[in-house]
Amino acid sequence: MKTATLHSAELAISGGKPVTEDRVLIHLPYMDESDFGAVNDAVRSTFVSGNGPKCMEFEEKLAEYLGVKHVLFTNSCTSALDLAFKVKSFPADSEVIVPNFTYTSSALGPLLNGLRIKLVDVYPDNGNINVSKIEEAINDKTVAIVPVDYAGNPCEIEEVMDIARKHGLYVVQDAAQSIGATYRGQKIGTFADVTTFSFHGTKNLTTGEGGALVTNDDEIAERVKYMREKGTDKQSFLVDNRDRGFYEYVDIGGSYVQSNLLGALGLSQLEKLDWMNAERGRIAAYYREQLSDVPNLQFLRLTDGAETNWHLFGILVPEEHRYWIMDALRAEGVLSNVHYTPLHRNKFYLGMATDEEMQGSMQFFGRLLRIPIYPSLTAGQRAHVAEAVRKVMHALPKAK
Ligand SMILES: Cc1ncc(COP(=O)(O)O)c(C=O)c1O
Repeated sequence: MKTATLHSAELAISGGKPVTEDRVLIHLPYMDESDFGAVNDAVRSTFVSGNGPKCMEFEEKLAEYLGVKHVLFTNSCTSALDLAFKVKSFPADSEVIVPNFTYTSSALGPLLNGLRIKLVDVYPDNGNINVSKIEEAINDKTVAIVPVDYAGNPCEIEEVMDIARKHGLYVVQDAAQSIGATYRGQKIGTFADVTTFSFHGTKNLTTGEGGALVTNDDEIAERVKYMREKGTDKQSFLVDNRDRGFYEYVDIGGSYVQSNLLGALGLSQLEKLDWMNAERGRIAAYYREQLSDVPNLQFLRLTDGAETNWHLFGILVPEEHRYWIMDALRAEGVLSNVHYTPLHRNKFYLGMATDEEMQGSMQFFGRLLRIPIYPSLTAGQRAHVAEAVRKVMHALPKAK
């Protein structure tokens, strides 16, 4: 049943009564007693530094969950993306294909390693890379593709892999947002040469800050183990060579490992990941039912054959009213936001593409609004969000 919306009610932005006096936030991490207990126990163990037993257990359990050979826990998805390129040592003038609608980190992986990026446009109705535009961006310098799963909705990763295999390209799937999502029944993490996840505070599984590099490739995994620990072989010293009494500097690298405390948090979060994703799914189903007949509002297109983890819930609204809708929702007590801005519109990436070439990204960005979705959103708050969106959208024609 739809929430009763008083279409004639005066909007809060015009001095009317807001839908709720208690602001509904856009993001909140889900934490419960099992998380508090796990971190408490880890602190008491006094093993607080990197790559501890809880980190290794988290890596093993996550590898089992995803169905992959290697999971390497890192201090962010950005670090995992950096490592994914550091490990390959591509020639300096190589090019990497990156979708234009993504977080800067997808491009930073190649850029931090001295490579160039080539921006490719995205679909105007879901923000994922437009597969039909990939081949025209490939040239004799192209070495890799970094497809991204926007909002947790997987890109067409099998199609991307087919193109990559045809041209001999390396694929790093930036799955920062899509842990637990599937494509054609198979978990994200099992398709690309390397997949990277984020466990940042806003993500479906969080360790506060954190990420993972996931691969079935033994050589990549072996070298990244050294590279994430300052180029040392400390991990093998900790795991299977305790009697040696020293470890060596075997490669270049950085300091990308995670504290054992965060390994413990990752483990307790992983245990409830499927429940947390399902809870997001229930909220999404509720919004889709409540907002299905709202004029001028469209949902993001879900990829055929994919199952999203509902990391974000986006709505597409008329571009000319988008910021007004955001302000009107805030006045009603519901926060929404706009994110990302197309890469080529950001200072650092200016000049790498034109609006003309990036029409899909410009249309998607222009119409996108994200509304609250997270497991701790109460039934009352879900109803407030739906009611606020209905109230504001019904007032739209008078808005300009
Ligand atoms: C697509 C994408 N890649 C990378 C990142 C960066 O993740 P982290 O903060 O773990 O480095 C984000 C963060 O939101 C993201 O959305």
